[in-house]
Amino acid sequence: MIQTINTVPYTDQKMGTAGLRKKTRTVMQKNYLENFLQSIFNTIPDLDKKSFLIGGDGRYMNKQAIQTIIKIAAANGVKKLYVGQDGLVSTPAGSHIILKNHLDGGFVLSASHNPGGIDGDFGIKYATSSGGQCQPSESDAIYKQTQTISEYKISDCPDFDLTKLTVYHCENTEIEVIDPYIDYIEMMKNIFDFPKLKKLLSSSFRFVFDAMNGVTGPYGKKIFEETLGAPVGSVINAVPLEDFGGLHPDPNLIYAKHLVDLMYSEAAPDFAAANDGDGDRNMILGQGFFVTPSDCLAILTDNYKLIPAYKNGIYGVAKSAATSMAVKRVADKLNLDFYEVPTGWKYFIHLMDSNRITFCGEESFGTGASHIREKDGIWATLFWLSIIADTNKSVKEIVLQHWKKYGRTYFLRNDFENIPQETADKLMADLEKKLPTLIGKEFNGYTVSEAYPFIYNDPVDHTSTQNGLIVHFTDGSRIVYRLSGTGTNGATLRTYIERYVTDKLLEDPEIMLETLSAASRTISEITSRTGKERPDIIT
Ligand code: G1P
Ligand code: ZN
Repeated sequence: MIQTINTVPYTDQKMGTAGLRKKTRTVMQKNYLENFLQSIFNTIPDLDKKSFLIGGDGRYMNKQAIQTIIKIAAANGVKKLYVGQDGLVSTPAGSHIILKNHLDGGFVLSASHNPGGIDGDFGIKYATSSGGQCQPSESDAIYKQTQTISEYKISDCPDFDLTKLTVYHCENTEIEVIDPYIDYIEMMKNIFDFPKLKKLLSSSFRFVFDAMNGVTGPYGKKIFEETLGAPVGSVINAVPLEDFGGLHPDPNLIYAKHLVDLMYSEAAPDFAAANDGDGDRNMILGQGFFVTPSDCLAILTDNYKLIPAYKNGIYGVAKSAATSMAVKRVADKLNLDFYEVPTGWKYFIHLMDSNRITFCGEESFGTGASHIREKDGIWATLFWLSIIADTNKSVKEIVLQHWKKYGRTYFLRNDFENIPQETADKLMADLEKKLPTLIGKEFNGYTVSEAYPFIYNDPVDHTSTQNGLIVHFTDGSRIVYRLSGTGTNGATLRTYIERYVTDKLLEDPEIMLETLSAASRTISEITSRTGKERPDIIT
């Protein structure tokens, strides 16, 4: 039976860079999830002809939220739902399932790399038939619904057992529990040379894949161990846990410190990769060596010919404005089209759909390609393994060779967290006004050559978006300022600092960027406005 429940809006359901992301306890409030879901369905016509995917990264509330989505979708007359077995699906695999089966969209329950648990975060990434998160016009329409919602519809059908691959019905909706792994693995086999990778991984090559107790555990086991022959135990933190076993499932130098420590120890294996909670982010490490995401994108691009799926040529490449210029130097050399977009994977989607780009990436540990419409941590890992299998070089040798060829872009992101929203907004507004006056001025030896708000004109739908403020210096260095769109505690100001050199290739990034980082604080008056002398997090 379908029930109509009266409700009142929550006013904080605006989607950010990666869908709706909130404290778990916020989402647990009465009708919170229901209101948001009904608001989405209110924007979609002809639901009786529409099919959606549902799954998540296994975090706290994942299973329960899936049952709620099923009941609300059924009450709204959705034709069919595909649900990942055990309620699991990684973000990249979800994108592929939507595209391959021509679904109308999907709900991936994840706050990505944010911690889980009742005191952690929960999130909903709502994807459309593009296979990626909805476009700004769609999220605006949904946000509008959330502001005025007064009722939602829900079926009283029972909860379904999601452990079995079977078909259920709720109202007129068919619910099929599907294997969330098989199609994704097949796709990877079609991109990479699996026999060659198998030779590497079943040799004496020592490999670790850290799933950080997120959803890529089972994907990693099936791909690296069962298919490619890596020794059992090569995939660590391999069981998805509701609280990620206490880990902050963000694959970077801070939150994957256990892996970094291993790679800088005597016992270091040859190669390690980590993925975040929902499997779209990645970190790549060699023995005593860390690859920055900006360099990662540049190096993968430079090696595209080694991969069967790309050997006959690729379209262009794109990066977010916040990401370093390293990939542009490769694109220029290889004569590839190059695009710079705002932060958020949705901006890459138009460029992929119109065959303008094949590879893209962000400094925030995201690299991907046009096989799907999300970033893809396992894809990046397989790409690195392919380069190693082909060149027989270590991670460090591969990167060093790249720097010798193209120069090195030292890059750091400084995050100033938990700033009152008003303070942060004012800082950005005042800085924007001040930009023209900076030109020609010197800060710690760096002279400003250009300073402007970054405005992106989408070549496909001709809309403009503003995202961040950019300051260029005469030596090619850059600072980018922007506010995070994914935080759940106050505002986070991110400053992205980069400096390009052709010598001094093996210095400490923090030392190389110290004076430029200090200049970034002076220019934006961060310390006087926020009281923060130093960033809270440097990555
Ligand atoms: C952060 C990253 C951004 C990424 C997003 C979703 O967003 O910086 O690159 O697309 O998470 O994973 P931000 O908090 O900066 O808005
Ligand atoms: Zn993620």
